[in-house]
Amino acid sequence: MPRPLMFAANWKMNVAPGEARTFLDRFLAIDKAVAGRTVAFFPPAVSLETTSARLTGHSHYLVGAQNISWEPKGAYTGETSVALARGAGAGAALVGHSERRHVFGETEEETSKKVRAALDGGLLAMLCVGEKLLERERGETEAVVTRQLRAGLAGVKGDANLVIAYEPVWAIGTGRNATPSDAAVVHAAIRVVLVDLGFLRDTRVLYGGSVSAGNVAQLLAEPEVDGVLVGGASLDPDAWAGICATSPSID
Ligand code: PGA
Repeated sequence: MPRPLMFAANWKMNVAPGEARTFLDRFLAIDKAVAGRTVAFFPPAVSLETTSARLTGHSHYLVGAQNISWEPKGAYTGETSVALARGAGAGAALVGHSERRHVFGETEEETSKKVRAALDGGLLAMLCVGEKLLERERGETEAVVTRQLRAGLAGVKGDANLVIAYEPVWAIGTGRNATPSDAAVVHAAIRVVLVDLGFLRDTRVLYGGSVSAGNVAQLLAEPEVDGVLVGGASLDPDAWAGICATSPSID
């Protein structure tokens, strides 16, 4: 049985609440809501509530925080706890995005604590993994991704509400994406680690990194690619609705 596809929009530090409302008005008017697919939105924290309120009542949409704290509450200026994110309507959290790891210096231990906090607090955790260019050139891709998975998933139960996103760092926001077969090789390696760690076969592994209307069909044609995590191309409602309606194709 193929796993149901997930299309996730990572808006990063874009889309204020008013812009989210305008975006979703347009998106909902044109989205084909393909049966069996989940469309997820990761807005900035200030736009979580507006986004989730606009999507309430549509079970195939999911809203998530881009980052969460592992601490439950207290004196942590600038942080968002799982409870605060849930209070704003989040049902998911991104964890370990490469910008968190490499721009803000998030460690594997911190990533692991965030995965557990998200899951314990009832959120779907989307754990991002991926190698840097130098690591790929040195042939270390599988070793890096395996290490990030094992660290990020330490202490997590096999039936957890988990999605993995493979995002090669050199492909994010660069217009340079992994070919579908590059992605398939790494996705297969990720699947081996997940099975080894006791995770369910229906745990989805998404691809991210310069996904666009022009390459999404070929990526989805790879059986190990269970959806996409999209930054730049998710910022336009027409482009995003088109991506979410794409059929897998090998042409
Ligand atoms: P991109 O970003 O689609 O703009 O490359 C993807 C991501 O960072 O999640």
